[in-house]
Amino acid sequence: APKRRFRVLRWTWRLTYMSALAGLGYMGYGIWEMRNPEDQPEPDPNKKTLVILGTGWGSVSLLKKLDTENYNVIVVSPRNYFLFTPLLPSCTTGTIEHRSIMEPIRNFLRHKKAAVKFYEAEATKIDYEKKVVYINDQSEIKGDISATEVPFDMLVVGVGAENATFGELRALPISIKLTISGIPGVREHGLFLKEVGDAQRIRNRIMDCCETATFKDQDPEEVKRLLHMVVVGGGPTGVEFAGELQDFFNSDLKKWIPEIKDHFHVTLVEALPNVLPMFSKQLIDYTERTFKEETITIRTKTMVKNVTEKYIEAESTGPDGKKQTERLPYGLLVWATGNAVRPVVKDLMEQIPAQKDSRRGLAVNEYLVVKGTENVWAVGDCAVANYAPTAQVAAQEGAFLARMFNNMAKTEAIEAQLAQLSEAQEKAPNQEAREKVFQEIKELHKRLRRVKQIGPFQYSHQGSLAYIGSDKAVADITWYAGNLATGGTITYFFWRSAYLSMCFSTRNRVLVAVDWLKAKVFGRDVSRV
Ligand code: FAD
Ligand code: NAI
Repeated sequence: APKRRFRVLRWTWRLTYMSALAGLGYMGYGIWEMRNPEDQPEPDPNKKTLVILGTGWGSVSLLKKLDTENYNVIVVSPRNYFLFTPLLPSCTTGTIEHRSIMEPIRNFLRHKKAAVKFYEAEATKIDYEKKVVYINDQSEIKGDISATEVPFDMLVVGVGAENATFGELRALPISIKLTISGIPGVREHGLFLKEVGDAQRIRNRIMDCCETATFKDQDPEEVKRLLHMVVVGGGPTGVEFAGELQDFFNSDLKKWIPEIKDHFHVTLVEALPNVLPMFSKQLIDYTERTFKEETITIRTKTMVKNVTEKYIEAESTGPDGKKQTERLPYGLLVWATGNAVRPVVKDLMEQIPAQKDSRRGLAVNEYLVVKGTENVWAVGDCAVANYAPTAQVAAQEGAFLARMFNNMAKTEAIEAQLAQLSEAQEKAPNQEAREKVFQEIKELHKRLRRVKQIGPFQYSHQGSLAYIGSDKAVADITWYAGNLATGGTITYFFWRSAYLSMCFSTRNRVLVAVDWLKAKVFGRDVSRV
């Protein structure tokens, strides 16, 4: 018996060893393949020109699944990378380095079957009648030509949204009807959290506030102001950022700069009666309780109306129902009050009569066609299809369009083949040859019917997840026909593994995992650059 046991052990060891080797080989090949893309056929200008605006969730999900050999594909975006936004709040405190959640669009496009043209530029105007997009190089280095036009046969608008400051058309929860035309001072003094640059600015500002607060002979009131971190907007962006910031203070800042520990304070301001309105009631309560334990102050029913360099003015409703205005001094102000429509989208909406009643973006039909247009589609935050403006929706919309475009190309190819076969049938020398062609035509018609069978877009909600700080997360997960609401540390591990698996590439996954480990072992980096 011991001999047999030894043999089993030896074989188990060999198998483990061999599978590890196979795994390593597979990974190695994957990396080699990634680093050595094959030559691609150039885009075929005789094919229809498909112009895709943006390199965010919607557009990249479309590009991922699109058979690029069927079209002459052109991508235009001021950002030459894809950004995994769900982990962006972690970049504001250095838990994750921003490059770990960026994927260069060039690398990704080089792996498509047929080449795709990419222009790093902003679409400044879409002329629907002329079927032309005007583009502008907004980068620092400009060549002799920095503005030009790109004609299109088909156009996908995936430019996302900009930050709401309420001076523009906005995508707002209907419950707040702001009568004011814009909140003064937000753009000048507040920081947003949408892009990599925003996260870097916030990271620097946090450290600047801490270092300035410890400047020699600083007045105690001024120290308090500088260390007051105010977040406006209790949606998931505001909540996740507030949680990350408090974590940063608890695990690192107060260790390295003990002088600030009695004054550093995070306040979250929300106009509605509670934070995270899209989550279930028990998770809202859980989040509010957790914030209380973490000493983050939540000010609900408080609407910011004015922003100055050193304080915000907010109107709140007291327990007696009376409105009062107060001043909250701040050192850092992060403005996370949702989305507004981009100017290029607004301009397109104005050109199309069918869009005149749309306020929050391009109204699309169930096939994501921009209403009132032909051959123009919209995905993600700039499209209004009655879904929340989330990455989940944008990604599913992009994938749907890719399937539809692939099918459209297949349909056209089959129809061309059918036309040829009909001709061949007419010219067939005898009955036998005619019958043979007839059978081929029948088969093709069957294929055509199958290919054309693509239903309208249907969103499948997988659930909502948010990190709330102190290694806790909340999750509303769609579970069979019902909903599972859960919050806590286990949910946090689920949040981590879900987002890790959703990262764009293996490279991103490895970098994010290493960043998490680095932050745990060495703490976050508190240098200001
Ligand atoms: P984006 O991803 O914003 O991409 C827009 C693209 O268009 C960008 O590449 C941009 O550079 C480009 N662009 C902009 N202007 C122009 C122009 N004029 N011409 C050409 N290109 C242009 N959603 C979730 O589901 N789960 C989450 O956990 C989550 N976390 C988030 C965290 C943060 C901090 C933020 C800000 C958002 C989060 N979201 C999350 C929401 C999600 O990021 C958006 O819904 C999603 O990015 C929308 O995808 P999109 O393709 O429409 O736009
Ligand atoms: P949001 O629109 O979800 O929330 C903004 C909040 O700001 C609202 O609750 C609103 O009442 C409040 N507000 C507006 N004006 C105000 C004022 N003047 N004073 C005080 N409060 C004010 O915006 P957010 O969080 O930026 O999210 C945008 C989209 O991205 C949403 O669809 C969200 O679901 C999605 N997202 C999802 C995440 C996740 O699933 N974890 C994370 C981040 C964003």
